[in-house]
Amino acid sequence: MQQPTEYIIVLGTNVGDRQANLDQAIAGIAALGEILQKSQVLETLPILIRAQGRFLNQGLRVVSRLNPPELLDALLALEARIGRQKRIKNGPREIDIDIVWSSAEPVNLPNLRIPHPYNRAREWIRQIMNELKSDAADSETGVVWSRIRGNALMNIHDFAKKKLAGEKISVVTCYDHAFARLVARTSIDAILVGDSLGNVIQGGANTLGVTVDDMIYHARAVRRGAPQAFIVVDMPFMSYQMSVEKALENAGRIIKETGADAVKLEGGSAILPQVRALVAAGIPVMGHLGFTPQSLLAFGGYKVQGKTDAAAETLLSDAEALNSAGAFAVVLEMVPAPLAEKVSKACTMPAIGIGAGAAVDGQVLVITDLLGMDPDFAPRFVRKYANLSQDILKALEGYAADVRDTKFPSDKETFH
Ligand code: KIV
Repeated sequence: MQQPTEYIIVLGTNVGDRQANLDQAIAGIAALGEILQKSQVLETLPILIRAQGRFLNQGLRVVSRLNPPELLDALLALEARIGRQKRIKNGPREIDIDIVWSSAEPVNLPNLRIPHPYNRAREWIRQIMNELKSDAADSETGVVWSRIRGNALMNIHDFAKKKLAGEKISVVTCYDHAFARLVARTSIDAILVGDSLGNVIQGGANTLGVTVDDMIYHARAVRRGAPQAFIVVDMPFMSYQMSVEKALENAGRIIKETGADAVKLEGGSAILPQVRALVAAGIPVMGHLGFTPQSLLAFGGYKVQGKTDAAAETLLSDAEALNSAGAFAVVLEMVPAPLAEKVSKACTMPAIGIGAGAAVDGQVLVITDLLGMDPDFAPRFVRKYANLSQDILKALEGYAADVRDTKFPSDKETFH
């Protein structure tokens, strides 16, 4: 028997007498330790498979002398006693009992992970954690639970709601499944599958060569890694500029073939008919003003935009026009902070800045920039939250050295 460990255990049920299932689970858990606190009972919608009944959920703060694997075994036995049937994953269930937090070290076993990788993205689990253990730090990220906000149920209306409530919106670019899985485990509000993939992933000098097929390929991988995230996909160069019909056709393909939530288009008054047509067709549009990378050749390089009075006036009226045309948000890239602030104040849609200062409604960064994956790229508006290039180089050199010195694989890493 080990020292007592504190756990947060959550219950879910959407088959049979749901309250009776909860009561039976709570009685069973009381035999495994001391229940210090019960959360309120929540009624929630199913997340991944929508065509099933609503769940009743409840959380328990429990102290037990069982270690996490022992507790898991006891909880699985309890699920069986309550009559849980084997059905499809994420489908209906008589009872589901999960350990979502413990005061012990994180657990990373094939059948048990504490914290569970998707805790942070589930609104009801955040609610229960806030009620039962708001001062606890998430053991993977160190972020205190009461500060964790989720992205699970974000939709276009939440962008304006967040702006009204004064809550800043965080957006990050993402291009593949591996990173999407990680972003999905954070409280970042939205993912942008940016055509910056032309530079970052394809190694191009700019974004001009990116195709609709490229965007679809990457956005599908991101959607698979982040099934619940709000995903915006860039419409690449020349996929919407030519005509309203082209814009509808290509945006339609992107939405249908990727499962994305919205598209992003660069430009102001010149593309208003396209924006109006997409919005009328039910395709949410994010605008992009200021330094718009698809106009790199016209700008003659990477330059801050909106610096003269005339340019600032045009940018402001473009933003107002996009707002009236129904765009749900606009990216402002490399514009002076006072101008970005004016745009934010003039529009109901949030202004999401990148190199646009702090007085906007949210920020977007390119994921490889914020993770410090390119030691040679450090524009003024990027903050590097990690130095992954160093970590990756160290890991790769360590592997190469171990292979050379026959230190890898060890006996433990070998099949016999
Ligand atoms: O393509 C992209 O990544 C973008 C961001 C820089 C906003 O448009």
